[in-house]
Amino acid sequence: MQKIINLAKKRLEDGNLVIFPTETVYGLGGDATNLRAIKKIYNLKKRPLENPLICHFKNIKEIKENFEINSLDNEIIKKFCPGPLTIILKKRKKCKIHAAVSNNLNYIGCRIPKNKIAINILKSVNFPIAAPSANISTKISPTQTNHISKKLKDNTLIINGGKSLLGLESTVVKTSKNKILILRLGSISIEEIRKKIPNNDIEINNLNQKVSPGNQKKHYAPNLPIRINVTKVLKNEGLLNFGKNNMKSNICEYNLSAKGSLKEASKNFFNFLYLIDNNKLCKGIAVAPIPSQDLGITINDRLKRASYKK
Ligand code: TXA
Ligand code: MG
Repeated sequence: MQKIINLAKKRLEDGNLVIFPTETVYGLGGDATNLRAIKKIYNLKKRPLENPLICHFKNIKEIKENFEINSLDNEIIKKFCPGPLTIILKKRKKCKIHAAVSNNLNYIGCRIPKNKIAINILKSVNFPIAAPSANISTKISPTQTNHISKKLKDNTLIINGGKSLLGLESTVVKTSKNKILILRLGSISIEEIRKKIPNNDIEINNLNQKVSPGNQKKHYAPNLPIRINVTKVLKNEGLLNFGKNNMKSNICEYNLSAKGSLKEASKNFFNFLYLIDNNKLCKGIAVAPIPSQDLGITINDRLKRASYKK
């Protein structure tokens, strides 16, 4: 493992990109202080420049050196970092993150991943790593290295860490006075935040493009057309099922969780979408209803965007 970490370190220090595992999804990482590396990320992903990148840090100390943190920010960081949470923080004057990471915004998304490989890479270099999910913009986020597109594969070093532990991206939050705004639903459910931080209001703000520029209506989209909350599967559709029911596909079907676990469903979500999407016989994807609670709220958010039609 040390050998591949050293290789990643060398690549990153040279301004090149590395795809590495995190506990949520794979990230396409580059030196967050290096304009050349940041430009490569935007180009490869075909990501609009106004959609800022998340920065990954090795520890809380590194975040505190670069950002202003109020007491609620501090509480959130203490309870959820390292882990699948991204918090938007205000840059200090001496912040070393390049302005291109956030389209010159004064605020940056900060995250400390929990994955061992990710932390080892972060510890090996002396700069934070900007890393969006390692997919072409609007496409499915990769939770295994075989999901990564050829174009990204050909232009990066890929570190294989197996299947992502959680399978959905981090929850993005920002504090506003004493309120917690959720800018993107993710691997930490609203219930979990409420349980750990019971005394502050929580507001879902994920459609406000101004505060959360990355929340396009169409996102996480497979190539095939997708229908959600179905009770009947059409002739040429693959089925993305959940729990127990009588639905059947005559082409292919995957059950996110036969026992009805939303945690298991989250872990399988992008992989099963990928498998149906890449089945040559399928002409569409039918998705069973997913309960709108806990992580089901995040899964339904992703499905809604994936099935969005202009
Ligand atoms: O789990 C994750 O968050 C993965 C892993 C690799 O860390 N990363 C990820 O990054 O999903 P990305 O770039 O695909 O999604 C970042 C989201 C976008 O919705 C973006 O708009 C929002 O975070 N975001 C980033 N910086 C922001 C900022 N300064 N202000 C508001 N929203 C921001
Ligand atoms: Mg993404």
